Amino acid sequence: MILVTGGAGFIGANFVLDWLATQDEPVLNLDALTYAGNLENLAALAGDDRHHFVHGDICDRTLVDRLLAEHRPRAIVHFAAESHVDRSIHGPGAFVRTNVEGTFTLLEAARAWWGSLGVEEAAAFRFLHVSTDEVYGSLGPNDPAFAETKAYEPNSPYSASKAASDHLVRAWHHTYGLPVLTTNCSNNYGPYQFPEKLIPLTIANALAGRPLPIYGDGRNVRDWLYVGDHCSAVREVLARGGVGETYNVGGWNEQPNIDIVNIICGLLDELRPDPAGPYARLITFVKDRPGHDRRYAIDARKIERELGWRPAETFASGIRRTVQWYLENQGWVENVQSGAYRAWLERNYASR
Ligand code: NAD
Ligand code: DAU
Repeated sequence: MILVTGGAGFIGANFVLDWLATQDEPVLNLDALTYAGNLENLAALAGDDRHHFVHGDICDRTLVDRLLAEHRPRAIVHFAAESHVDRSIHGPGAFVRTNVEGTFTLLEAARAWWGSLGVEEAAAFRFLHVSTDEVYGSLGPNDPAFAETKAYEPNSPYSASKAASDHLVRAWHHTYGLPVLTTNCSNNYGPYQFPEKLIPLTIANALAGRPLPIYGDGRNVRDWLYVGDHCSAVREVLARGGVGETYNVGGWNEQPNIDIVNIICGLLDELRPDPAGPYARLITFVKDRPGHDRRYAIDARKIERELGWRPAETFASGIRRTVQWYLENQGWVENVQSGAYRAWLERNYASR
């Protein structure tokens, strides 16, 4: 069995679904079901006794200790986090709590558990920490892509909290010998992404005839990766990654935000034409995000060289699948657009 944290969120749910579709090893899924966690993401696993869901907080040491002792997982795959940069600007406290204190709590529980194992079990145990490229800071137009050796320069409360968690993971390996692995991935997109992030927000707003907000000049660059490719990279690193190593994961797919939004508008024009006219008419430039990182790009050569991983999906195929998924799952989108979601839109966009 493996313990997955945050397995009801966007990437965690895709990981759990993919894991159980490709192998029989059970998953213990610990998730606090914040606004971003949604059991509907896991509906396909109803009645599947390989999936054990626990509603709980990674900051709850007693709970984590009990789960480790009862279920004896051979690995922890740690996705749980507060993940949205704009929310971290409005309220950084939750990011420090979950991303820093939560990771600290898991590391301490894992250390105690691992220390109690016999030689063989201890040697096989892994703590895989899922992190982000944002810890490396912002690139200029001609800078080389982020390699694993790049110094950390986090710029937002979100990326600072993730950088802090990465440092804790590193230290627990160097000081205590805990067998850790870290992945630093670029921007994901795909099914079940909460419509606060650029791609699902653009799709949801376009279909509702609402403005498509572009921060600043729209020329900020992100390196987009289909979520299924991130999940396969995490599986590879868990299976064969070097203990104490970090692996950058990316899509070799740098694109300015305005291009991403135009591509989505073009796909919607094709798949769900709007009688009122092309969706791009809704594009609206708004006030920039404070401290907005200009460019991210991942140098993913290490994971390819050492583990043979490369993304399987092209952006053209992945974004088409994603737009089609949102069109076919309008009920899912409606269910996550609660009063709290509308309050968030008001808070983030009304004053822009
Ligand atoms: P998400 O916000 O969609 O999901 C986070 C999940 O964690 C939710 O299910 C939530 O309920 C759960 N959670 C939050 N606080 C918790 C707590 N205290 N205890 C237990 N569960 C808690 O996030 P995501 O986009 O799926 O990201 C998952 C991980 O991947 C994060 O660590 C993030 O930093 C990292 N990451 C994300 C991206 C991306 O583009 N989304 C890219 C690289 C890395
Ligand atoms: O790089 C990996 C990171 O990618 C992950 O660690 C984060 O968890 C994930 O949220 C994502 O962070 P970004 O800030 O890059 O993602 P977001 O979708 O919020 O924004 C993508 C780009 O689009 C960014 O340059 C800001 C811009 N944007 C975003 C929103 C929500 C807009 O122009 N308009 C918007 O309304």
